[in-house]
Amino acid sequence: MNIMTFNTNEELDQIAAGIFASLIQTKPSAVLGLATGSTPIGIYQELIRLNQKGYVSFKNVRTYNLDEYVGLPEGHKETYRAFMDNQLFNHVDIDKANTHVPNGMADDLEAACKEYDEALAKESIDLQILGIGHNGHIAFNEPNSQLHAGTHIVTLKEDTRQANARFFNSIDEVPTHAVTMGIGSILKAKMIMLVVRGKEKAEIVHRALTGPVTTEVPASLLQTHPNVVVLLDKEASTKFH
Ligand code: F6R
Repeated sequence: MNIMTFNTNEELDQIAAGIFASLIQTKPSAVLGLATGSTPIGIYQELIRLNQKGYVSFKNVRTYNLDEYVGLPEGHKETYRAFMDNQLFNHVDIDKANTHVPNGMADDLEAACKEYDEALAKESIDLQILGIGHNGHIAFNEPNSQLHAGTHIVTLKEDTRQANARFFNSIDEVPTHAVTMGIGSILKAKMIMLVVRGKEKAEIVHRALTGPVTTEVPASLLQTHPNVVVLLDKEASTKFH
């Protein structure tokens, strides 16, 4: 596992976006696994800049997002579909038909999960970007005595809802459930990029990457993957030295 620490978030964003861009340059039809949340925003901004300067084209790129809230209507600004449109897709030359986000509004959510898995089974994600939750979750795979391999519906933990309440008017508006890709699909990606920022994540990222591999810290499963690159800002890296 290659762990890199950056003095500034700008440097981290540039290197992370550079890894995406060089993949797309060598493989224009690359399949990307994408995440939402605050962690990837600067990286997406840098990718937008690289696209607008003509250094990289998303024309033939396909994307699969990790997760989506259940029950937020289409167009709600906090859906992960809206996040991706606003933070990346609307600003680059990607074909929206090639972008996939789980459907959190399906009448039959189980069937929608199955459909997402069927689509994923036909693909092979070249590069999956991940953030980490304060409790060690990746995507919305929350700490538990067992984890799911495929796409499934989850009940969000209270601490996850609290952490995400900053994007809503109040905690009551934060959905209680989400649809998430499973650990099996994440670990099938050819390469995984874990990005962690901020001192409040220093402890959990250290535990996930150096402690026991356990379903109680879902990110610890990344230790079993052969090709993970970890990008930490200075504050998130303090426990490593
Ligand atoms: C988002 C996702 C989550 C976040 C994690 C960290 O699609 O799957 O696992 O990566 O909750 O969130 P931020 O980046 O907001 O700290």
